[in-house]
Amino acid sequence: MQDKIGVPIEGFAAFSREVAAEGAVLLKNEQQVLPLKKGEKVAIFGRIQYDYYRSGTGSGGSVNVSYTTNLKDSLKETQMLMIDETVDHLYMDWLKAHPFDNGGGGWAAEPWFQQEMPVDKEVIDLASKRNDKAIVVIGRTAGEDQDNLAERGSYYLTEREEGLIKQVSESFRHVIVVLNTSNIIDTSWMMRFKVSGLLYSWHGGMEGGRACSDVLVGKVTPSGKLPDTIAHRLEDYPSNANYGGKAENIYQEDIYVGYRYFETFNKQAVQYPFGYGLSYTTFEWRDELLRYDTNEDRLSFSVTVTNTGSYPGKETVQAYVSLPQGQLGQPARELIGFKKTELLEVGAETTVSFDVSLAALATYDDSGVTGYKSSYVLEAGRYLFYLGRSVRELYELEVEGEPFTLKTTRLVAEQEEALAPVKAFKRIKPGERQANGEYRIAYEDVPTRMVDLQSRITARIPAEIQKVENQCYTLKQVAAGEVSLATFTGQLTDEELAILVRGEGMVSPLVTPGTASAFGGLSDRLVSLGIPVASCADGPSGIRMDSGHKATQVPIGTLLAATFNPELVEALYRFEGKELRQNEIDMLLGPGINIHRHPLNGRNFEYFSEDPLLTGVMAVSNIKGIMASGAHATVKHFACNSQEASRNKVDAVVSERALRQIYLKGFEMAVKNGQVKGIMTAYNPINGHWSASNYDLNTTILRKEWGYRGIVMTDWWAVMNDPVFGGPAAASYTDHMLRAQNDLYMVVNNYGAETNQSNDQTLKGLKTGTLTRAELQRSVQNILSFLMEAPVFNRKQVFRDHVGFIPETSAIEQEVTPLPEHGRVVIQSHASVTIEIKKTATYRLYAEYVSQGEDLSQVATAILLNDVNVATVQANGSTDASIEQKLPKVSLAKGYYQMTFADVKPGVSITAVTFQAL
Ligand code: BGC
Repeated sequence: MQDKIGVPIEGFAAFSREVAAEGAVLLKNEQQVLPLKKGEKVAIFGRIQYDYYRSGTGSGGSVNVSYTTNLKDSLKETQMLMIDETVDHLYMDWLKAHPFDNGGGGWAAEPWFQQEMPVDKEVIDLASKRNDKAIVVIGRTAGEDQDNLAERGSYYLTEREEGLIKQVSESFRHVIVVLNTSNIIDTSWMMRFKVSGLLYSWHGGMEGGRACSDVLVGKVTPSGKLPDTIAHRLEDYPSNANYGGKAENIYQEDIYVGYRYFETFNKQAVQYPFGYGLSYTTFEWRDELLRYDTNEDRLSFSVTVTNTGSYPGKETVQAYVSLPQGQLGQPARELIGFKKTELLEVGAETTVSFDVSLAALATYDDSGVTGYKSSYVLEAGRYLFYLGRSVRELYELEVEGEPFTLKTTRLVAEQEEALAPVKAFKRIKPGERQANGEYRIAYEDVPTRMVDLQSRITARIPAEIQKVENQCYTLKQVAAGEVSLATFTGQLTDEELAILVRGEGMVSPLVTPGTASAFGGLSDRLVSLGIPVASCADGPSGIRMDSGHKATQVPIGTLLAATFNPELVEALYRFEGKELRQNEIDMLLGPGINIHRHPLNGRNFEYFSEDPLLTGVMAVSNIKGIMASGAHATVKHFACNSQEASRNKVDAVVSERALRQIYLKGFEMAVKNGQVKGIMTAYNPINGHWSASNYDLNTTILRKEWGYRGIVMTDWWAVMNDPVFGGPAAASYTDHMLRAQNDLYMVVNNYGAETNQSNDQTLKGLKTGTLTRAELQRSVQNILSFLMEAPVFNRKQVFRDHVGFIPETSAIEQEVTPLPEHGRVVIQSHASVTIEIKKTATYRLYAEYVSQGEDLSQVATAILLNDVNVATVQANGSTDASIEQKLPKVSLAKGYYQMTFADVKPGVSITAVTFQAL
């Protein structure tokens, strides 16, 4: 079969354009400044019109694309507008001397903003005479290992950007600002400048430029809604006082994240509310109805929506509840559902219906104040339901007859206390109600841990599978039902079990080039038992192959959430699933589903929203789309990765209620509604226990309570600590990881799963008792079960660590370095050398390198022989001393080869390459 690795799926990029357009959120449109009309004269300002961002940075943004689109060219492509050429030429000339600054291309090196061209007032004045309208494009990025900061050029506009908007809005009558940003940014300047149109186009992937243009010229009527609240001031966000800590952040705002806080305590702090977004057309709603089925305990709402404007468009109907304050205290509004209509032609109407179970509205009582400790309850009192266009524009739904009231508090589900904080702290809750309907902030003590983790863990250690001697059962026999998984596992030695819980990477030569890891049959004997080697790749918005292979880059998570259209997102991820299969990748490392706790988190772009329901629904669409092809999704980062600074140290100190209702909710939905089979734990600790060794997180809640049947992997080079006593963390504590039932350590060096047995605590733990064989077998069984369901199980396994003969070079312009007897070529960093191979043979390559990365950075350099990529050397963190890495085999005929290096992410310096004849 022809190798289809690196060949993007047809139609995928085009579909992603539709999605990117649907996620654009129009926040202001005075005097119908948009859409731009045919023949209108438009001057476009801001360099980002050319250097249009497609994604945030880091692992989630590293897709190699075959092309990208920018806004200026895309607008030109429509042939609808007269784009001012004078302004265009000014920028084009200036850009020659001021190219895009990628910070040198290293990990987390790209700056948040690109320097703007200074534009004279005169130029703008003259342009305003020639043109009807002006567009100003502002761009921002941020990402993994690089949070936004509360400073100009990051969350705030630079002086030059602000000056540009000011000047343009003083000269032009009609100004539209486009925000091509990965996060929400400060828009308080909207109150100062005369801007008539404001559009968040976010980062729309490789087709983002075209998608934005589609919206601006009205090919697409905007229908995106804000997945986050935009406050007037950064300081107004409830987490602001407890964000950015190095050692810990106390989640004092508790469940009052985003609009849950603002609608309850501080409405006037909001500039643009959650769920808000304008359309070019208008919709009328009528016949809002609420029914309550007492037998089934289900609520149904419906509303009829008519397009009464003059453009076709889609409407989003949002449903909210206001729960009785009761003993627990509640936010003023909570999203309980949303639906998007099909495209409604002018005059067309449709009825939108919801069906919600009463149980879904339950609240977790972590203190026992309702009489039901550690349970989901519905408190007595009056329940109010609303349908709306945003959290602010709501219609209260009347029930026929009596308002909806529960006379007594109801127990919905009894759970066991899990993951409660150890540290005492206070959280906020609604206090006295004021005349304006808002509540004063009151504080209460957060319930702390009562359970004895030691006895919980000990009591639940599974039974050990007895050794099955000298058998050679294969995994195929297990899949065929001829042998039980337990018997199969029983034949594995401790050493083999220990190999199975290690993944290798990055860019393992065993699997699809440039991907994040290989796991499963990482020794000859394991392969002989039919255990395949599976592969996973970043994600979330396209496949990352550091080998340079191409893939389709789709819009960022925040944009997807802004579509409020799960069916559309599912369809997009069906393409993603096909692309994964075609590239022989079993799992995508995505979606990222952490909550937008604070606007500055650099990875917010990979995540969906401040709201857990919207997050969970989007996660499920993503997962279902991918799984439709047979490939798998991996939801990450489980849980509470709320900032990038100190991400592998900062403890999330958070109540059990906030965890269950806000931070874990999306994961719960992914498990229960999406049947996801892959989870990646976060780098950070939660309530003193690192996520990857957090027993209550990975076992009590995830497996026991939610019934998860899949694998849990660590984040790359994560650290763990003792699941009972806490204490210091280290990457070698795989015994603690396994005890918590995080199954798989990601990652050890390539070829290291078998050879580095002494580098971690798995085997040592079996001896010292920090781990039992039964626990190790349990994780191995989780992994084996997964592998039997992974595409690789039915795929002819291609081990890619052998590069076949490559053409030799004929023209030799350089001095030749004959390959010495022991085959080691010492390189002056990044020099290119011509080597002479004296004997036709297959050679195993080894590289020695030093790297200058930061903690957890991912840097890589490819080795090319006669322009053929034969290996990629990958490093994380900094290594002053030279380190040796085993690389693939390559067959070379007698002759000359030019060896060069190509940086994938600068930061690795190769100092020597060894060719060992096999
Ligand atoms: C990131 C993960 C990513 C992994 C592999 C880590 O640095 O946190 O999200 O999937 O690397 O690239």
